[in-house]
Amino acid sequence: MAQRIVTMISEDEIRKRVTALGAEISKEYASKNLVLVCVLKGSFVFTADLARAIETPMRIEFLGVRSYGEGTSTSGVVQITQDLSRPIEGEDILIVEDIVDTGLTIAHLLDLFRTRRPNSIKVCALLHKPARSRIQVPIDYLGFTIEERFVVGYGLDWGEKYRNLPSISVVESE
Ligand code: IMP
Repeated sequence: MAQRIVTMISEDEIRKRVTALGAEISKEYASKNLVLVCVLKGSFVFTADLARAIETPMRIEFLGVRSYGEGTSTSGVVQITQDLSRPIEGEDILIVEDIVDTGLTIAHLLDLFRTRRPNSIKVCALLHKPARSRIQVPIDYLGFTIEERFVVGYGLDWGEKYRNLPSISVVESE
């Protein structure tokens, strides 16, 4: 069956929102020890753009997480495939997530990082699908709230495909 890629959020809309988020974060973290934690793989594009929209000096860490297989529904099991390269004690952690869907991944990461005694820990998510929420998690900085559809592009995949699309899109079968 043929597939059609339909844009949900354009490159331009993403750029404007990421710039605004960057300005907000720059202000709030001006005198802090900011560490951006990029949750791989889906957040790599968002983190790259967000980091460049933030003026505050920062460290960037990468965390490998697997919560989805090849399909589109979560197993509820979050597996760390690559840990941070350094301790985060006393630092101000900002977890950068592509999308908060059920909330299980962020809940797990908050629990994990709290045990490492950072000075503060907050969440920045590009997308939120509230209709699918299974656990309440705080999202301190949010790009867009979206309806209950599986989205791809701007780092997000479907079975490892479509991460390189510049806009956030849905795949439709024709
Ligand atoms: P959660 O644990 O259910 O909140 O899921 C978080 C992870 O599931 C995200 O970081 C994504 O990797 C993946 N995910 C959830 N919804 C989508 C989607 O619509 N498109 C692509 N990946 C998604």
